[in-house]
Amino acid sequence: MGNRELLENTKNLLSNYRQPPLVMVRGEGSRIWDADGREYLDYSGGIAVLSVGHCHPTLAAAIAKQAATLMHTSNLFYTDKALLLAHEITTRTGFSRVYFANSGTEANEALIKLGRRWHYEHGDKGRFELVSTHQSFHGRTMGAVTLTGQPKYHAGMGPMMGGVVHVAYDDLAAMDAVITDKTAAVILEPIQAEGGILVPSDGYLEGVRKLCDARGALLFFDEVQTGYGRTGRFLGREWSGVMPDACSLAKGIGGGFPLGAIALTEKLADGLPVGSHGSTFGGNPLACAAGLAVLEIFDAEKLVENARTLGDYLGAQLSEMASDTTLPAAVEMRGRGLLRGVRVAPEYDAMQVLAAMRNEGVLASTAGADVVRLAPALNTTKSDVDRVLAVLRAALAGATKKP
Ligand SMILES: Cc1ncc(COP(=O)(O)O)c(C=O)c1O
Repeated sequence: MGNRELLENTKNLLSNYRQPPLVMVRGEGSRIWDADGREYLDYSGGIAVLSVGHCHPTLAAAIAKQAATLMHTSNLFYTDKALLLAHEITTRTGFSRVYFANSGTEANEALIKLGRRWHYEHGDKGRFELVSTHQSFHGRTMGAVTLTGQPKYHAGMGPMMGGVVHVAYDDLAAMDAVITDKTAAVILEPIQAEGGILVPSDGYLEGVRKLCDARGALLFFDEVQTGYGRTGRFLGREWSGVMPDACSLAKGIGGGFPLGAIALTEKLADGLPVGSHGSTFGGNPLACAAGLAVLEIFDAEKLVENARTLGDYLGAQLSEMASDTTLPAAVEMRGRGLLRGVRVAPEYDAMQVLAAMRNEGVLASTAGADVVRLAPALNTTKSDVDRVLAVLRAALAGATKKP
């Protein structure tokens, strides 16, 4: 069946997304094909999920093998794959414990509960407040969406969870004003991704760490988008050297297979005692086999290094585009590694730029209202990057001002 026939079934889906009229049926590496057989270079990367590209043979084989071996036990039992993956993650991140979930939002729910419960377990029952930032994105479940500092995601969903305070991102004075003896934890993205790929100023994350330490609050990083090599280091936190008390992970961790996790320091190891939190599917052996295969591919193909090297190149080229006076639609390069974007001038429409790129066979996404985001597979190549740059440049050059 082709695009047109398949699209007739969109009437059976809830219309809570805004997809273009295409139906994807196959992927390989950085490429994806629609039901009419048209090929696209996929720099949307499944919203920064495709750490190892579409359908990497090592990942696909590991999933197939595990599906035929042991798919699910629930958390009534340990499994080999969950134990091995927890060990791999702790070895690579410097954290000492892992809890598995199925998605980024669920990982953040675990952080919320850990932040509150750890203080409770340690006799400080009045510490329940969570500090988050404006423009942040932490997910769609009620706790995570409450943390999310974007009112559009709260509209009509209230009342939100209590005990959450939002402050400006990259503003230490604002943070200083809200961390009190009621603060259980501060939660931050090391780079605000969905908010528009905002990299904070040098010293900001260090400053927040100091404020948390001085006032007895925990510090959590949401590494759902910045983790797993996306910014050219295994975790986004490594650019600052700041070690949070815990972080959330998802997206790239399963290379496209649904998986999330939190990783925490030994200090918090008793924060969620037996029975306090759990998930039927979280850490199932199928997802963890995918997670192990992803890390095997990271090592074999040196993907963190590739993200850094190619990311530097992509960033430099995007900066040039943004400063090119013949391209008035492009005003600023954003990001780090292979989490990059170009901010589009207010008179222009980022969605129009995306549509023009798609017409030329390149897929990208937006971050915030005005940033064209490129978040490709970490094993993309320089020739792919060059093609995307050429298509993006032409799309920006052809962009028309909003009426
Ligand atoms: C930083 C961050 N946290 C959490 C989430 C939510 O992850 P999920 O959609 O897997 O629930 C996202 C998704 O874009 C994200 O970018």
